Amino acid sequence: MSAISLQGISKRYPDHVAVERLDLEVQAGEFMVLVGPSGCGKSTTLRMIAGLEDISEGRLLIADRDVTHAEPHERDIAMVFQSYALYPHMTVYMNMAFGLLRTSKLSRSEVDQRVQEAAGRLQISDLLQRRPNELSGGQRQRVAIGRALVRKPKVFLFDEPLSNLDAKLRTHMRAELERLHAELGITIVYVTHDQVEAMTLGTRIAVMDKGRLRQVGAPMEVYRRPADRFVASFIGSPEMNFLPVPDGMPAARAWLNDRYGSAALQPGAVLGLRPEELSISASAAPDVPLGWSGLVQRVERLGAEAYAQIRLGGGDVLVRTEADAALAPDQSIELTPDLSRLRVFDGSTGAALAAQG
Ligand SMILES: Nc1ncnc2c1ncn2[C@@H]1O[C@H](COP(=O)(O)OP(=O)(O)OP(=O)(O)O)[C@@H](O)[C@H]1O
Ligand SMILES: [Mg+2]
Repeated sequence: MSAISLQGISKRYPDHVAVERLDLEVQAGEFMVLVGPSGCGKSTTLRMIAGLEDISEGRLLIADRDVTHAEPHERDIAMVFQSYALYPHMTVYMNMAFGLLRTSKLSRSEVDQRVQEAAGRLQISDLLQRRPNELSGGQRQRVAIGRALVRKPKVFLFDEPLSNLDAKLRTHMRAELERLHAELGITIVYVTHDQVEAMTLGTRIAVMDKGRLRQVGAPMEVYRRPADRFVASFIGSPEMNFLPVPDGMPAARAWLNDRYGSAALQPGAVLGLRPEELSISASAAPDVPLGWSGLVQRVERLGAEAYAQIRLGGGDVLVRTEADAALAPDQSIELTPDLSRLRVFDGSTGAALAAQG
């Protein structure tokens, strides 16, 4: 049983299609991350799940119940917004309790118990009598999450909940969200445009572009086997390198043709290799059918590792190396790809070509 089932869901505005025939199954207990560039339709999708936005076409099921046209409060979901949307004049306690007191049939003591439990879990028990303007960003974010927790919904929806926090606090809150998810076994749909957040938080990630779903899969699966060129370049930092299929290398072309079929040799076909999938050496590796000669442009040493920018005939690529690799600008080097990781993208559709055998 899926916790949430989106079946051909679209959102059309008079002048714009924000989401186009989206199919997505979120399993119970899953941490599903919707990721994609600004304007690709993530928030719209989340708001349609929440019932804050009409669904133009398609069907939405939550726990196998058709809620396509149900009111938000009939959906048993809770949403946490980027802006937190706390009530400024209410204490932290009341921010968390208010919704339950107003809309549920729980007694005051049951509500109190839930608020205390959520506050304990989120480590804000000491702050219950403060008002939002007396809290840090991270604390406000916790209150917003607490307000969702006390309702014990079937599904939690998060829209960029960490984007107002600084980098350190973001990392910390990521760990907390992971812990909450693991401890409570809750179902989460989480929206972000940050691919690092998506990679680290998601049980699975759904990559969107221009209102369409491009790929759904476990983070490492999407990283290693992107469905198309868009996903390949969006997921991963630094970005994947894209190289032209070499012209003058008959052995390389024969190998590509064997492994990826003739589409690999069509005009516009592109090879994809991540910075850690290329290695630098003084002379070309024997036995590897594919490789490039290049010139070191610059080396960025980050401490634990370094990235070398290498100029090839067609353009530059970025290669990850040892932090203290002996490389200097203008040095001639040879680049060897890890062929087990190579991807080839179709020249006209951008789809990843399947490797044979
Ligand atoms: N009321 C509206 N009328 C017309 N177009 C809209 C409306 N609301 C949103 N859009 C458009 O729908 C598209 C998707 O918007 P959405 O807010 O879902 O993007 P997003 O992926 O959440 O982006 P971001 O990362 O910037 O938050 C955008 O192009 C947006 O301009
Ligand atoms: Mg958004």
